[in-house]
Amino acid sequence: MMASLLKLSFSPIRNQLLIPKQLKIVTSLNYTRNLPLKPFNSTSPLPEFADHPTVRNHDDLYKFSIEKPDLFWSKLAISRLLWDKEFDRVQKCDFKTGEINWFVGGKLNVSVNCVDRHAKSNPNKIALIWEKDEPGQQERITYQELYHMVNQMGNMLLQHNVSKGDRVAIYMPKCPVAVTAMLACARIGAVHCVVFAGFSDEALAGRIQDAQVNTVITADQGVRGGKILELKKIVDAAVSKCPSVKQVFVYKRTGGDVPMGKIDIPLEKALSEVSKPYCKPQEMDSEDPLFMLYTSGSTGSPKGLVHTQAGYLLYTTVTHKHVFDYQMDDIFGCVADIGWITGHSYVVYGPLSNGGTTLLFESTPTYPNPGRYWEVVERLKLTHIYLAPTALRLLIKMGDSWVHNYDKSSLRVLGSVGEPLNHEAWEWYYKNVGEQRCDIVDTWWQTETGGILISPRPSNSKAEIFPAMPMRPFYGIEPCLVDKENNELKGDNKEGLLCIKQPWPGMCRTIYGGKSRFVDTYFKSDKGLYFSGDNAIRYEHGFYRITGRVDDVINVSGHRLGTAEIEDAIANHCAVAESAVVSFPHDIKGEGIYAFVVLKDDITENAEEIQDELKLIVKKQITSFAQPDIIQLVPGLPRTRSGKIMRRILRKIAHKEQDFGDTSTLVDPDIVETIIKRQQMN
Ligand code: PRX
Repeated sequence: MMASLLKLSFSPIRNQLLIPKQLKIVTSLNYTRNLPLKPFNSTSPLPEFADHPTVRNHDDLYKFSIEKPDLFWSKLAISRLLWDKEFDRVQKCDFKTGEINWFVGGKLNVSVNCVDRHAKSNPNKIALIWEKDEPGQQERITYQELYHMVNQMGNMLLQHNVSKGDRVAIYMPKCPVAVTAMLACARIGAVHCVVFAGFSDEALAGRIQDAQVNTVITADQGVRGGKILELKKIVDAAVSKCPSVKQVFVYKRTGGDVPMGKIDIPLEKALSEVSKPYCKPQEMDSEDPLFMLYTSGSTGSPKGLVHTQAGYLLYTTVTHKHVFDYQMDDIFGCVADIGWITGHSYVVYGPLSNGGTTLLFESTPTYPNPGRYWEVVERLKLTHIYLAPTALRLLIKMGDSWVHNYDKSSLRVLGSVGEPLNHEAWEWYYKNVGEQRCDIVDTWWQTETGGILISPRPSNSKAEIFPAMPMRPFYGIEPCLVDKENNELKGDNKEGLLCIKQPWPGMCRTIYGGKSRFVDTYFKSDKGLYFSGDNAIRYEHGFYRITGRVDDVINVSGHRLGTAEIEDAIANHCAVAESAVVSFPHDIKGEGIYAFVVLKDDITENAEEIQDELKLIVKKQITSFAQPDIIQLVPGLPRTRSGKIMRRILRKIAHKEQDFGDTSTLVDPDIVETIIKRQQMN
């Protein structure tokens, strides 16, 4: 896009950004212009810097954090975390080699920081509110109770020979036992590897094999949206392909009848055999791994990103507190599953490290009806809700009466994550959920970044929020945009690849077993930058809007999928010669999946049957949300003379665009017309 099209101008008189019509956000700016947003309670700058002679407000502190990152982060690390031994050096990082080390020489334990210190100071405070699938069935767990549960589970794992550094897979519904399992691993130094309990047995097996997991913790069944999920059976199928697994602990979530084999151990029985109430926390080095989480890239199989102890904990603690203005009596409702990074950082580690109360929401936005979120807000008096735009788009379609039926006056801050928050959704969220009273924080970040990097808050307390963009970099985060040759684009009103110039404590350290893949993927040039894989526009005042991925990663309902993964699954059908998967705009999911499939024999008579089989294969190999929305059988794919599939053209066909640009480099330009004709016939 031309820079001139993006030009924003700033009107000093009305103190507002005037945004050109092309960007379609003029109307929603009215709200921020006329309504001064509620000032944040948190002092800005942060209390640690309140007496600093040159830091008077947020902007000063941001500048300070960029110019003196070591001073900035060390002050926070000392005041916000509990250390067994303080660090000797703040950071030792090099973006050229991909070496990232924070708080070098420091020792601490993450579970002590998330549980023990609050159990001691505030034992009866509620740590977890488990809102089960059926409305109104809740359980509340205090910090004291969580402390006992974590100690007991830690001892149980030690008794079963799980030791420091061992990888433990957790395949569970969102429930207190799952959070306990994560924290128990952290207590004894084991590395948890939570796999979203919607992934298929093949996907689970792939992750278990890659991480060389020897212990799995699962549940008999899950319940979501009134439906039973056969978790144990999926684990059985996965484990049958994974000789490294020596034991599977099975938590009784439903009490359903599930087969128990030789390596299966009822979790409750194993816990009841623990006699010692206290589990001594393992003293962990700042850079020991805390967890691995698999995520899709543009090539190959999902990669196991490794996050470590102190830097990750500090970053999630600080971002949770200041992006969301979290106050001690607040009830934080992040509805993401613990199988995703959002669940790790803003359901578990951030809120618990801050001694907060965090919601574990087991259900779906529409069960038993589309008023579920708002009914939970009213009943539990949530102060925050943090969700993905796809849920908002779904709820918008269901009509406004659901949201209007409930009292939402407890809400103060509304968060969004995972995909661009489009204007319609932003407005609806602001008006109908936040009742024009709440701040909306559109937060941009990634599994790799560990925590939020760009969001409208923190800011100077009365600063405005502009709709549908994450806007401001967090303290210590220095974004930049580069062109296709990796040259930095200076100045405002520019669009380019979003990179980050300096390391931050929460970033991932490596890909498990793939250091060179890590360096090639994220630090690919000699510019010394972190490459996010996203495109962004920078407006005046350095405000950012994310415009989407630049690689072959598709974002379906805020879930990341690699086109290569889906193509690999499709290739398992015996009739398939090859395929190419691209995304297309989808009004609820954000992006939908469009698969162009070439069969070995160009049979079209039983097309429907083959399409159904292909969907099943993808579901079996990956998960149901990876199933293509559209499968088009085609006689061939557009290729360049060097044999490369022209995805650019396929994307345009999927978007139903007409102008294909230069097609002269194609081996067979007629194939494009044939594909379009067949598309029109369907
Ligand atoms: O493309 C960006 C999109 O989600 C990607 C990261 O996905 P994942 O690692 O699964 O983590 C999702 C939750 C943090 C990013 O590269 N994304 C995330 N947040 C936003 C976003 N796109 C636009 N706006 C956002 N606020």
